[in-house]
This record gives sequence, structure tokens and C-alpha cells, in this order.
Amino acid sequence: MDLPSFLWLWKIAAWSMGLSLLTYVLLGFSGIWMLNRRLSKRPRPAWLRPFHYIVGAILVFLVLLLLAIGVVGTLGYYGSLGHSPHLVAGLLVVALALTSAISATQINPKRTWARSLHIATNLLLFSGFVFVTLTGWTVVQKYLP
Ligand code: HEM
Ligand code: HEM
Repeated sequence: MDLPSFLWLWKIAAWSMGLSLLTYVLLGFSGIWMLNRRLSKRPRPAWLRPFHYIVGAILVFLVLLLLAIGVVGTLGYYGSLGHSPHLVAGLLVVALALTSAISATQINPKRTWARSLHIATNLLLFSGFVFVTLTGWTVVQKYLP
């Protein structure tokens, strides 16, 4: 496949990445807001939890989209995977995002471990995003004119 026709794919990747970082920030704010209300035993706005849930679903969708673009694009270009540490970084982010989303569905007063797991995976997810962005940025340089 020739390079210019491929660049648009990496542009979608870059935009999706920007959006997923935005959703991460929104999830951080709304999550800490919920935590704060729970600890101070004050009621939280009714929309807060659904908002956090929907934005979380969007984050999972974007991360899976990025995985699909990365795999399809790399297979299309090289015919194989694993050309840089970016593969490990990408798989790590996908695994963390899915663990976070699954643990989130388990959060309730009887299962306090689920909340700890959710918060811990999301803190790790931050480093994952940094790692995937830096390694992605490095491989993108090969395609730029
Ligand atoms: C992957 C997508 C995500 C989904 C589906 C999701 C969903 C949820 C759900 C259902 C809860 C439980 C709310 C409750 O107490 O009823 C929760 C709690 C929480 N989430 Fe997320 N979340 C996601 C990502 C994140 C991210 C990225 C962060 C931080 C950057 C975050 C921070 C928090 C925090 C701090 C709580 C604790 C709230 C509390 O202690 O009351 N979440 N999340
Ligand atoms: C959550 C975010 C992301 C995920 C899950 C992801 C996933 C992947 C995966 C699995 C591959 C195949 C790698 C291989 O087999 O060597 C890939 C390739 C690639 N990704 Fe990403 N990616 C993400 C973010 C990014 C970002 C932010 C950029 C650019 C700034 C980017 C640019 C690329 C490029 C250029 C390739 C081709 C690999 C190469 O030429 O060696 N990705 N991505």
C-alpha cells in the first residue's frame, strides 16, 4: 500500500487519541466528584453517575477503535505485527481500559474491592496513555514526509 493513502488512517488515530485523552480528563473529574460526595456523605447530582458511565463507554469505544486502526494499518503495511514497543503499549492500554470498565460494573457497597480495582487501573491507565502516545508519536515520524 502506498504511503499517502495511508496517512489518513493515522490522522484518525491522532484525533481519536485526542478525544480519548479528553474523555479521560472528564472521567477523572466526574469520578473524583463522586468519590468526594460519597466520602462526605452528601448526595451527588443525579446525572453524575450516568454521565461518568456514558463517557466511560465512549473511552472504551475509542481505545478499541485505535486498536483496530493500529492492527489493520500495521498488517496492511508490513503484513505482520510487532514493529516497535508501541504494540505492547497499545495492548496494555486496551487491557487496562477493559479491566477498568468491567470492574466499574462490579462496584457496589458489598464489593469494595471493585472500586479499589477501578481506581487503581485508572491511575495505571494514565501512564499507559503517556506510553502509547510517546511510542505512537515515534512511529508516526516514519510516515511523515
Ligand atoms: C473505562 C471507563 C469507565 C467506566 C465504565 C466507569 C464507570 C464507573 C462506575 C459505574 C463507577 C461507580 C459509581 C458508583 O459509585 O455508583 C465508577 C466510579 C469511579 N470512577 Fe469510573 N469509570 C470509567 C473510567 C474512569 C476513569 C478513567 C477514572 C479516572 C481518571 C475514573 C474514576 C472513578 C472514581 C474515582 C470512582 C469512584 C467514585 C466513588 O468512590 O464513589 N473512572 N466509575
Ligand atoms: C489507545 C491508543 C492506541 C492503541 C490501542 C494503539 C494500538 C496500536 C497497535 C496494536 C498497533 C500495531 C503495532 C505493531 O504491531 O507494531 C499500532 C500501530 C501504530 N500506531 Fe497505534 N495505538 C494507539 C495510539 C496511537 C497514537 C496516539 C499514534 C500516533 C500519534 C499511533 C500511531 C501508530 C502508528 C504510526 C502505527 C504503525 C506502527 C509502525 O509503523 O510500526 N497510535 N497501534
